[in-house]
Amino acid sequence: MKNYNVGVLGATGAVGQKFIRLLQNHPWFTIKALGASGRSAGKSYKDAANWIESTPIPSAIENILVKNCSASEFEGIDFVFSGLDSSVATEIEGEFARAGIPVISNAKNYRTQPNVPLLVPEVNPDHIELIKTQTFTDDGSGWIVTNPNCVVIPLVMSLRPLFDNFGVKSVILTSLQAISGAGYPGVPSLDILGNVIPFIGGEEPKIADEPLKLLGTLKKDSVEYARFPIQATATRVPVLNGHFLSITAALETPPADIDEVINVLKDWKSPIAELGLPSAPGYPLHVYDDPRYPQPRLHADSENGMQTAIGRVRSSNVFDISYVAMAHNTIRGAAGGAILNAELLVKKGYLN
Ligand SMILES: NC(=O)c1ccc[n+]([C@@H]2O[C@H](COP(=O)([O-])OP(=O)(O)OC[C@H]3O[C@@H](n4cnc5c(N)ncnc54)[C@H](OP(=O)(O)O)[C@@H]3O)[C@@H](O)[C@H]2O)c1
Repeated sequence: MKNYNVGVLGATGAVGQKFIRLLQNHPWFTIKALGASGRSAGKSYKDAANWIESTPIPSAIENILVKNCSASEFEGIDFVFSGLDSSVATEIEGEFARAGIPVISNAKNYRTQPNVPLLVPEVNPDHIELIKTQTFTDDGSGWIVTNPNCVVIPLVMSLRPLFDNFGVKSVILTSLQAISGAGYPGVPSLDILGNVIPFIGGEEPKIADEPLKLLGTLKKDSVEYARFPIQATATRVPVLNGHFLSITAALETPPADIDEVINVLKDWKSPIAELGLPSAPGYPLHVYDDPRYPQPRLHADSENGMQTAIGRVRSSNVFDISYVAMAHNTIRGAAGGAILNAELLVKKGYLN
């Protein structure tokens, strides 16, 4: 297996730091370049980043000089991961793709562009074929792949088996989102401690839209979106890691009983299970029978933060079913999800 030289854009931010921690000792990918804003460029990484991870900065990283996010400074890099602020991601990620450097991004900017895959390997691995229709470069060497909003991960991971087995008519959910999802320094402590904030700007439209692309059908050069309404209420809660969702769904074909739903969720098989991707969780979905679980503090780190935990699966008095779902927002919902995307892209021959 070739070892790939990778860069991280937005390397000093919360997601960028998670990339650095998760890529330490990665069997296929080695970080060779780090990029951030002009405020950080020219400094060593340890001086530029306000490190918030719970393990030390890897010694191979701490003295790397941070670069400006300009493609000309990333020569010899096979591809980049992006944890860029959305205010700059359109321009910078586009520049890298046009320069023939593939971009695997966490930012929202290109997620809904028709020929850019919004990718979750266990949910829609076939959508990577959209890469072939991108025109950033004449020879197809530069392209962009995105991963979804961090709330969308537990939602779409749990909807995939339900959608395939019963069809989904409509979904109503409330998200209880961890503070790490707001980056650093994030929400002021006096706002969030002992409190719930009932609105997160810009979040609800992404939660309503992105699952429909992910569950959509690949056509020639775009995805035909799945068609059902999703109503979301996004709230911020004083939890460190792990976005927790309370979900109620109406199904096209109502199940015979709730055990049928539980069995569908428990028996679901990941389409990438046999590919041997280093970051793929052995059990991408776990269904708890104990009604006390899942809990963010106990379960967000399950399977190295890559598992979606489901619980409280029950009949609904209003729609067909209700349940809760949770996933680690900065691992599965951000850096870890992007690394898994890159591993799938290697396996499918898009990165060479
Ligand atoms: N946090 C999460 O759970 C999460 C989950 C999924 C997706 N995302 C997305 O991931 C991205 C990063 O989020 P975050 O929480 O890591 O944000 P963050 O902590 O604010 O980090 C932002 C990064 O962007 C860089 N940056 C800002 N302005 C720049 C410029 N003009 N040129 C180049 N680099 C610039 C910053 O560099 P400096 O340090 O030099 O300013 C920093 O490295 C966002 O698009 C966010 O929506 C976040």
